[in-house]
Amino acid sequence: MNTHLVTGGAGFIGSNFVLKKGDRERVRIVNLDLLTYAGNLKNLESIQSNPDHIFVKGDIADRKLVRELFEQYQPRAVLHFAAESHVDRSIDGPADFIRTNVVGTFHLLEEARRYWTNLSSGERKNFRFLHVSTDEVYGSLEEGDPPFHEESPYAPNSPYSASKAASDHLVRAYFHTYGLPVLTTNCSNNYGPMQFPEKLIPLVILNALEGKRIPVYGDGLNVRDWLYVEDHCGAIDVVLEKGDIGETYNIGGRCEKSNLEMIKTICAILDDVLPDSRYKPLASLMTFVRDRAGHDRRYAIDCSKIEKKLAWSPRESLEHGLRKTIEWYLAHGDWVKSVQTGAYRQWVEKHYGT
Ligand code: NAD
Ligand code: DAU
Repeated sequence: MNTHLVTGGAGFIGSNFVLKKGDRERVRIVNLDLLTYAGNLKNLESIQSNPDHIFVKGDIADRKLVRELFEQYQPRAVLHFAAESHVDRSIDGPADFIRTNVVGTFHLLEEARRYWTNLSSGERKNFRFLHVSTDEVYGSLEEGDPPFHEESPYAPNSPYSASKAASDHLVRAYFHTYGLPVLTTNCSNNYGPMQFPEKLIPLVILNALEGKRIPVYGDGLNVRDWLYVEDHCGAIDVVLEKGDIGETYNIGGRCEKSNLEMIKTICAILDDVLPDSRYKPLASLMTFVRDRAGHDRRYAIDCSKIEKKLAWSPRESLEHGLRKTIEWYLAHGDWVKSVQTGAYRQWVEKHYGT
């Protein structure tokens, strides 16, 4: 049976990927996750007794542990999701972002290279290191600018995006210098089940449910290109199986929306789903707050390369994807409670002053 070493598989996208992968095919997954505030074993509850899923709590920067995992499980591929991922937190304290996203990725690459070098020639040919990255490495677009494509110059603006850009460069260098068979994906904003409620979409849903103000940064006209998380997971699978080594693939939803549009859409769906809410209309909870420092104005992805070369395209519509996401949060009150721990409350208090 094929084995994949997945890093960060208890986080939002990683856990969606692991669950979906297990539904579709028989593959052994070794899931290495440090379980930071963003990692949650509840995401993986449905597969906790599945022998094909091996969860290991640990750090991608722990060379001894990573080496042991390579030696013990002999993976055919590494799918590298683990990262510090929230832009606001990177502004507040960049150190963890450098440690995990840059230094952690370096250690993981070194151990992957060591393992790959000692494989037989057939196994070396089949091995893949897939690095999951972001569109934020390209910086910010103005209205009317063409969307980012794979050749767009890197211009990261936040400590988060700079750390991801650094990791992309390391991955690229391991291909060019050592021949490590790498693939990099740069994806736009994801939404869907199991996203930690520091990010815009779940924050809006949960605040609206509780009748709390919905903070809109700046003028609310910043634009993001939204993609349902399952579409992202499907794209990663396609790149892993069919992508050309050394290549990068941009993944996006062809779905540009301003933050105000997104928030109003979510509130309208909630008004419909919760006709008895005493906070209706929920859009009235929107409150303009101080802007994010260095806030990127617009992201948009040109995903024609992956569409043409690998026959992938986004499937989920925004309205339907948002409804599914909202329904998931409504049905998973326990999950919500479990992530709203002391550490979460402290962050909300510190960041939003509520
Ligand atoms: P997340 O914050 O929800 O999850 C990150 C996971 O990594 C958590 O489970 C955490 O415990 C784990 N982790 C953190 N540091 C670790 C370490 N040192 N060792 C092992 N595990 C560690 O993030 P996400 O939103 O699921 O993003 C996953 C990946 O996708 C990231 O690399 C991110 O940059 C990228 N990405 C995210 C989006 C998005 O919209 N969320 C879009 C494009 C790309
Ligand atoms: O583009 C891909 C990136 O998308 C990923 O690489 C990141 O990991 C992911 O966090 C996301 O980054 P953003 O900064 O775009 O996502 P976030 O959900 O934090 O914010 C989305 C937009 O909403 C952004 O313009 C800031 C705004 N916002 C956010 C929050 C949390 C608000 O207006 N109010 C808020 O309270």
